[in-house]
Amino acid sequence: MNHIPVMLEEAIAALSLSDGKLLVDCTFGAGGYSREILKSPNVQLLGLDRDPSVKEAADELLQERPGRFAFRQIAFSALEQALQDHGWGKVDGIVLDVGVSSMQIDQGIRGFSFMREGPLDMRMSQSGVSAADVVNQLPEKELSWIFKILGEEKRSRRAAEAIGARREIKPITSTAQLAELLEQALGPKKGRIHPATKVFQALRIYVNDELGELSRLLLAAERVLSPDGRLVVVAFHSLEDRLVKNFLRLRSEAPSLGSRHTPVTEVSVFQPSFDLQQRKVLMPSASEVAENPRSRSARLRWASRTKAPAMPVVPVFPQMADITQLEARS
Ligand SMILES: C[S@@+](CC[C@H](N)C(=O)[O-])C[C@H]1O[C@@H](n2cnc3c(N)ncnc32)[C@H](O)[C@@H]1O
Repeated sequence: MNHIPVMLEEAIAALSLSDGKLLVDCTFGAGGYSREILKSPNVQLLGLDRDPSVKEAADELLQERPGRFAFRQIAFSALEQALQDHGWGKVDGIVLDVGVSSMQIDQGIRGFSFMREGPLDMRMSQSGVSAADVVNQLPEKELSWIFKILGEEKRSRRAAEAIGARREIKPITSTAQLAELLEQALGPKKGRIHPATKVFQALRIYVNDELGELSRLLLAAERVLSPDGRLVVVAFHSLEDRLVKNFLRLRSEAPSLGSRHTPVTEVSVFQPSFDLQQRKVLMPSASEVAENPRSRSARLRWASRTKAPAMPVVPVFPQMADITQLEARS
C-alpha cells in the first residue's frame, strides 16, 4: 500500500511501549503505525478503521502477528464498544493519525480529490451520505456555512450560490464538475492553491463528521485510558489540532479553587485527568518533509492519563447542520 506513515518515530516514542501493554491504533490505514507498534515484544494491539478497503492490509498483519493483533472495521468514536466487544476494559495507549490516507486521496473513484476525476463521494466508510448528496440537497445557506466554518473559505457564499444555480439545471455528481464550477465562480488558480481546495476540504470534514468523531474519541479516551496511559494524536488540519490542543489544555489544568470565600462547588474539586508532559506541539523534521511533502502540515500532541476520574462532559464543538436529515442517494 502506498502510504508513508507520518511522524512515526515521534508517535511511537510518545506511546512509551513496554511488555504487556494494551494499545489501540484508531486509524489503521495502511498499518504503518500498527506494524511498528507490534515490533515491541509482548504488546497487544487492536486496530480500528472505518474504511472497509483497509481490510487486506489488516489481514496481512493478522497473519504476521497471530494472537497479538486484532482488527475491527468501525468508526473510532465507538472505541468503548470496540473494546467491550474485544473483551478489553482499560488500555495503556491510544494513537490516532487523523485525516485521509494516500490510498483514499489517490484513488479517483473515492472522490476525495479535485485533481482526480471521479464520483463526488468522499465517504471514508463507503456508506451513508456522500458529498454529492450534501452538495445537491443542503440549502445554500447551510452549504455556505459549512464552507466558511470547515473550509475557512472567505468566499463561501459565492461558492454556495454557484452550486445552487448549477444544481437547478443538473445535479453535480463528479469531482471534476464541482472543481470546474468552483474555478468559474471563485476565479482561476492563484499560485499553487486550486480555488476548490477549501470547499473540498470542508465537504470531506462534513461528510465524515471528522470533528464530531474526534471530539467523541477524546472523551472516550479519557474514560478508557489506565493511569499513565498515553493519548497520542497526529492531526493535519488546524481545526482538528485546535480541538486536541484545547481538550488537553482543559483536562490538564486544575480548575482554580478561587478565594477561601468561594463555595466549594463540584467543579472546584475536579483534578486534571491528563498530564501534559509535552506542552509544545511536535512537527515533522525538515528531512521528513523533504522525503514526504504530505507530512508538512502534521502536528503531534500527546499527554498521559492521570489517576483522576474523567471530568464531566461539556460540549467541545458546536452543533453542525445535521447530516442525518439528508437522504443517501449515491
Ligand atoms: C492518515 S490514515 C492513517 C495511516 C496510518 N497511520 C498508517 O501509518 O498507515 C487515516 C485513516 O484513518 C481512518 N479514519 C479516519 N477517521 C476515522 C474514524 N472516525 N474512525 C475510524 N477510522 C477513521 C481513515 O479511513 C484512514 O484509513
